[in-house]
Amino acid sequence: MSDSGARRFFLPGPVHVEPDILDSLTAPITGHRSPGFKALYASLGPRLQEVFRTSQEVLIATSSATFVMESALISAPGDAVLHLTCGAFSERWEAINRSLGRRPDRLSVPWGEAIDPDLVREALRRKRYDVVTTVHNETSTGVMNPVGEIARAVHEESDALLLVDAVSSLGGAPIETDDWGLDLVLVGVQKALALPPGLTLFSISDRYAERAAQLPHRGFYTDLLRYRDKHRAGGTITTPATPQMHALDHQLDVILAEGMQARWARHRKMSELTAAWAARAGCELAAAPGARSWTLTCLRPPAGIEAPRLVGALADRCWIVGSGYGQWKPTTFRIGHMGQIRPTDLETLFDNIDEVLISFTAEAAASTP
Ligand SMILES: Cc1ncc(COP(=O)(O)O)c(C=O)c1O
Repeated sequence: MSDSGARRFFLPGPVHVEPDILDSLTAPITGHRSPGFKALYASLGPRLQEVFRTSQEVLIATSSATFVMESALISAPGDAVLHLTCGAFSERWEAINRSLGRRPDRLSVPWGEAIDPDLVREALRRKRYDVVTTVHNETSTGVMNPVGEIARAVHEESDALLLVDAVSSLGGAPIETDDWGLDLVLVGVQKALALPPGLTLFSISDRYAERAAQLPHRGFYTDLLRYRDKHRAGGTITTPATPQMHALDHQLDVILAEGMQARWARHRKMSELTAAWAARAGCELAAAPGARSWTLTCLRPPAGIEAPRLVGALADRCWIVGSGYGQWKPTTFRIGHMGQIRPTDLETLFDNIDEVLISFTAEAAASTP
């Protein structure tokens, strides 16, 4: 990790990108069917498999994550789908499915709580499902779901495919694609992988591919089997964002040089540091104890301080944190601590938030008659 000055950008994605990674976007453009580019593309595969903890192929879409979510639902049997929801992004799976004219079921827990694997077991005993969807890291609430345990429940109680949105966690917290038997895993590169937005990486299991192959119509661009076939032929289905692939090439080396275990430990430590600071600063953690994300923290400011005002005052000082999301927009703010962010960067951010909070308190005292 280069030491290139203060990191002042703490959104829960897109995240801070190191300057040397940005530089790699300026590599000369080559044809995506050229031998040089094909060699680059082929070299990504084994490293992506290490990051995804899988022996399956990891495929690359030039798109944001939502496109792969939609494609994954289109390419999978859609008659009986159960969406596990605990916030805005897990609800997105359901919104996409309904936009396709389907009538899925939902198992929801309140925002701020994690999905309970026992509830999943009960739901699967009540009704047979083809597909279950979930989110690993619910970016709207700062909850990290126990996907390993959810996967065990799904596989023990059913033969449903399990589709997992790991958009804001993969690379910053453990996702054991093969060990947990995940049928589809997707991640946005603009989150814990610390790349500029524009690519989504995903893996599909053989089970997923076999069932998708039974469907007569999977679209063209949305057909995930087409991605796999083209990948096996050494390339991508259409013209990919080749500059992004150079950046991915460079960043994969950075990630693997750090090592997955060390990278996860750094993220975990940053979530613990944030919780400790929040307690000192009088901010309340929005996610339930035991369910807290390693890559971002969602917080309620001290009583009497409005979250949007705090976010705005920090932005005025050029410190960028995330506002709340969806129904929690007015009441929470979010600190992304993922990618190449280090504990020392966070400590500097905390000092600045403390100063803003003190200035608010002083202002309030001065205006009290
Ligand atoms: C958990 C999660 N899923 C899905 C998405 C949607 O990603 P995109 O904007 O890349 O489509 C996001 C974006 O923040 C997310 O955090």
